[in-house]
Amino acid sequence: MYRLEHVSKVYQETTALQDISFSVEKGEIVGIVGKSGSGKSTLLRLLNLLETPSKGQLFLANKEINKLSKKAIQQQKQKIGMVFQQYNLLNNLTVKENVALPLKLMGKKDEANVMELLSFVGMNHKQDSYPAQLSGGEKQRVALARALTRNPDVLLCDEATSSLDEENTDDVIRLLQRIHEEFPVTIFFVSHELDTVKKLCERVLVMEDSRLLGVVDNQPTYLSKSDTPYLEKVKRRLAE
Ligand SMILES: Nc1ncnc2c1ncn2[C@@H]1O[C@H](COP(=O)(O)OP(=O)(O)O)[C@@H](O)[C@H]1O
Ligand SMILES: [Mg+2]
Repeated sequence: MYRLEHVSKVYQETTALQDISFSVEKGEIVGIVGKSGSGKSTLLRLLNLLETPSKGQLFLANKEINKLSKKAIQQQKQKIGMVFQQYNLLNNLTVKENVALPLKLMGKKDEANVMELLSFVGMNHKQDSYPAQLSGGEKQRVALARALTRNPDVLLCDEATSSLDEENTDDVIRLLQRIHEEFPVTIFFVSHELDTVKKLCERVLVMEDSRLLGVVDNQPTYLSKSDTPYLEKVKRRLAE
């Protein structure tokens, strides 16, 4: 799906990525971890084709990105969904309008698909609410529905759970696991929270100071819907 060969990204004075090589198969769930400033977001911006490598080669579906026409890159971009730490929903649009937006921008409309996605993420009852009326966890569920509207091949998550509390983080992880089961999508999950990455990812890229230190395999934990009442959970955790 993706192959990077000796990729570097240099801004005026900063080297944000140095000599990065790895490949990822279709359908994998890959974590990217590292301290703030290590280059994680820059790597995601290369993977979502917003930026191109300064050096080295990036292949997506066996095509080298620097050799593609603008139009071909545009087409590839439409198959990549993205979610962010700050949700990036449009405040003046309702939940439903936010989810419909990626299609609208392409001059398309698919009401049934939008409603199906909203119920998939458990937000259909809030379809006419505005983002300001939602909790953080709810906003991220809407953002995930929006990222899925173009039926992406790739889903990129940049610190998607980093503003959420533990319960909402687990809800989003559970949702990502369901997305992975039901959509044929490759997921990159950037986070500085190792506990979260451990629950979700099958392989983890470890970044430090613009370099890829190594790739570690992991056995994710499938999170089933918790039946334990919240009070009980808190008591157990405090007793640990
Ligand atoms: N557009 C840019 N212009 C200049 N420097 C940048 C730019 N984007 C990122 N950087 C620098 O690249 C390095 C890596 O940043 P980033 O990828 O955002 O790290 P992370 O997401 O791991 O916190 C940092 O030193 C950052 O200041
Ligand atoms: Mg970042």
